[in-house]
Amino acid sequence: MQTDTKTLFIETVGCQMNVLDSELVVGSLRRQGYELVHEPTAADVILFNTCSVRQHAEEKIYSALGRLRQHKRNNPDIVVGVLGCMAQKDQGEVRRRAPHVDMVVGTGQLARVPELVAEVQKTRIPQYALSLGRADGGKHAVTASFESFDPPRDASMRPTPFQAYVRIQIGCDKFCTYCVVPTTRGPEQSRHPDHLVAECRQLANEGCKEVVLIGQTVNSYRFDHGDGRTTRLSDLIARIHDVGGIERIKFVTNFPKDMTDDLLDAVRELPKAVKYLHVPVQSGCDEVLRRMKRLYTVGSYREMLHRCREKVPGVAISSDFIVGFCGETESSFQMTMDLVREARFKNSFIFKYSPRPGTKADDLYPDDVPEDVKKRRNNDLLAVQNANSLDDHKARVGETATVLVEGPSRVGERQPAGGMRQLSGRTMTDHIVVFDGHDRLIGQTLKIHVREASPFTLYGVADTGEVAGGELTPRAESASPRRTLPLV
Ligand code: 5AD
Ligand code: SF4
Repeated sequence: MQTDTKTLFIETVGCQMNVLDSELVVGSLRRQGYELVHEPTAADVILFNTCSVRQHAEEKIYSALGRLRQHKRNNPDIVVGVLGCMAQKDQGEVRRRAPHVDMVVGTGQLARVPELVAEVQKTRIPQYALSLGRADGGKHAVTASFESFDPPRDASMRPTPFQAYVRIQIGCDKFCTYCVVPTTRGPEQSRHPDHLVAECRQLANEGCKEVVLIGQTVNSYRFDHGDGRTTRLSDLIARIHDVGGIERIKFVTNFPKDMTDDLLDAVRELPKAVKYLHVPVQSGCDEVLRRMKRLYTVGSYREMLHRCREKVPGVAISSDFIVGFCGETESSFQMTMDLVREARFKNSFIFKYSPRPGTKADDLYPDDVPEDVKKRRNNDLLAVQNANSLDDHKARVGETATVLVEGPSRVGERQPAGGMRQLSGRTMTDHIVVFDGHDRLIGQTLKIHVREASPFTLYGVADTGEVAGGELTPRAESASPRRTLPLV
């Protein structure tokens, strides 16, 4: 254990919201003199930023905590903290299952992490910082107890300085019956557009080229100025569009019913808006959607898809699916297969239903689809999606794409840094392209000639005249490491 420099380890699971929260927590502790280390056993403070969306994510954290028990016994001065969704959801249960945890801090209380770490170090008394449950007080009190955590940004804490998540909204008010997020992240609240524009300006000054605006239902962003004016997502994108240095504006995740024409017009008209929409449908069966309380039908979702493609020609659309939700029959699943066959999603994130204690679905409906059936449906749906992704990718062979180079591909990560290796980037429709190039291209926007395609990746040649001439070998495993995770 080091005594002179204070060290910090953080493990993050879950969505982009958590990735951003961890970046900000690390930034705030670095300002207190902490240095990030990559081994928990080398750290004075060990933090887990957690996810509760599926049971598997929680088990992963409880196992990691279990592995630390002996280490903590040998080093009683270290601080072990559980942050985020699991902290807010399980509260005292965290310390019942892992009594060596010193700090339990919910999603709406992350600003207090530095202060709580110091308190544990001083008193050795376990610290809790949690927001109110959705039914534990009046609307105002509950909302106020979930604070958006927006400290100054620290470019060195991001995997790439030229890309950044910007949180435009916290919480969710949709209450889909399977989902814990309205509980773990509280009521929906949109941040002030002036603050968001200022944050984007600061990011741009630090060299950021792409901002990804994040919210659980990002397209329901709405800031009421209190004087009759409101700012919608389309208005916000237009304002960020004026920030010099920002080249790309992306936003995730969209709720189908909130996909308004003004937003689609903005995506079409504004050159910096990425022509990509992640709009999870979850199921292709109306009866399942009703039990999920998704507030739309398959027919209205199809109309929305049609409207997106009509208003934004060439737009790429992706979706999330839950297979094996309560009461999903073989024929309801076949309706989902039909939807995926015809919808031409760029890609789909497919999950097996995981019952979450405290949700409506867990109270109301038995988890009646056996695990092996969930698994089979997951594989069947993935096979249909992969065939469509391959068709979509093949149709792009021969195109010249504008690619923001993100870093080495998975293959490139195993090649020596600093010279030519396989790099990976994304097109304006969020398609992953890998190509051979020099490391100095990382962070640049380039023209890439697309030569080959696999279901996950496009393979191309850079338009820079410095290609090594290495053979293009499409291999599924070389898909970019920066797979965008769905947001919840
Ligand atoms: N079980 C399985 N998948 C879930 N998701 C949300 N809650 C659950 C659950 N209880 C999925 C949805 C959402 C994605 C991020 O996670 O598809 O869009
Ligand atoms: Fe909200 Fe998305 Fe969860 Fe539905 S699935 S409750 S929209 S976060």
